[in-house]
Amino acid sequence: MTAYRKAILFAKGLIYESRNGYLSASKHFDPNDVNTDVTGHVFIVTGANSGIGKETTRELAKRGGEVHMVCRNEGRATEARNEIVRETNNEKIFVHILDMSNIRSVSEFAKSFSANHDRLDVLVNNVGEMITEWRLTETENLETNFATNSMSHFVLTESLLPLLEKSEQPRVVNVGSSGMMLQGLNPRCYSKEKPQDFDGLVMYAQCKRQMMVLTEYWAEKHGNVHFSCMHPGWVDTPASRRGLGDLFEKMGDRFRTPAQGADTVVWLCLAKKATTHQSGSFFQDRKVGRKHLPLASTKHSRREQTAFIQCMKNIASTCTT
Ligand SMILES: NC(=O)c1ccc[n+]([C@@H]2O[C@H](COP(=O)([O-])OP(=O)(O)OC[C@H]3O[C@@H](n4cnc5c(N)ncnc54)[C@H](OP(=O)(O)O)[C@@H]3O)[C@@H](O)[C@H]2O)c1
Repeated sequence: MTAYRKAILFAKGLIYESRNGYLSASKHFDPNDVNTDVTGHVFIVTGANSGIGKETTRELAKRGGEVHMVCRNEGRATEARNEIVRETNNEKIFVHILDMSNIRSVSEFAKSFSANHDRLDVLVNNVGEMITEWRLTETENLETNFATNSMSHFVLTESLLPLLEKSEQPRVVNVGSSGMMLQGLNPRCYSKEKPQDFDGLVMYAQCKRQMMVLTEYWAEKHGNVHFSCMHPGWVDTPASRRGLGDLFEKMGDRFRTPAQGADTVVWLCLAKKATTHQSGSFFQDRKVGRKHLPLASTKHSRREQTAFIQCMKNIASTCTT
């Protein structure tokens, strides 16, 4: 089954997720969708110093937004911030240093942000990376893909929702991946013991499936916030170079630029049209897409969803109390 899913996903990727896929899709984009002034609006972008997060920050800054860049490395973050400020003349770009794999720190950041800001319009949960070897986080002993790609954003979003809900049209944009189609939901979140057949790609895909399920859960629970999950396509970034290794070397010229990868994130943050689509949807190239491959047996039941959410809550509570 996994070989079938990989083959279909790869074939689909060559057509739709490559640079040519973007060029073909973008012929149907309406540039007016994102021609908007967001002066006074407040955004948080996680992983904002590189790749898709940095391009998203640049586009929001160009339109006057106040953007809070959540990054783990002070040097890289300041360099990216200074470049964006120079280019856009927007000084309201702020850096927050946070290792998103440290869940207690994520919770503390969210509390402090909520105490010190009276407005948040859009949260972009962008941090993500495929960590190929089995590694537990130093702080909370969580598998690192799970901590960085799923649990961090669960805690951040849950903690910031009261502040987001004060905004007139709040949005949460989750940067997912079509890689989620390789995996059905594991209601037990992840294994605490190293599985004999641990595979970083499977774990990464599981985290992206989890982000999709969380998007649907939040959409159902918080009707006044627009939640979306999206796939940026195959994008040339440090994370994809590290995660794909040889495959990247073979396919590099087919990859999208980070700006092309960020296009749908920016559209989901800004376009009125985006919110006319049902909250909880999955997007690629400004269109609603499928959440599962045909005949791939990756769908889950309501019971499995409930068990998964409870599992996330239990782990979050252990990490943050
Ligand atoms: N590139 C693709 O082809 C592709 C495809 C599908 C989905 N995605 C998704 O797109 C999102 C953005 O990735 P990207 O491709 O733009 O990669 P990228 O350029 O490497 O950006 C990833 C960002 O996340 C930050 N980050 C990673 N771990 C972190 C941590 N523990 N704490 C704080 N920040 C952390 C990185 O910081 P440093 O600079 O300090 O490392 C960087 O700013 C990810 O969710 C990824 O899964 C990418």
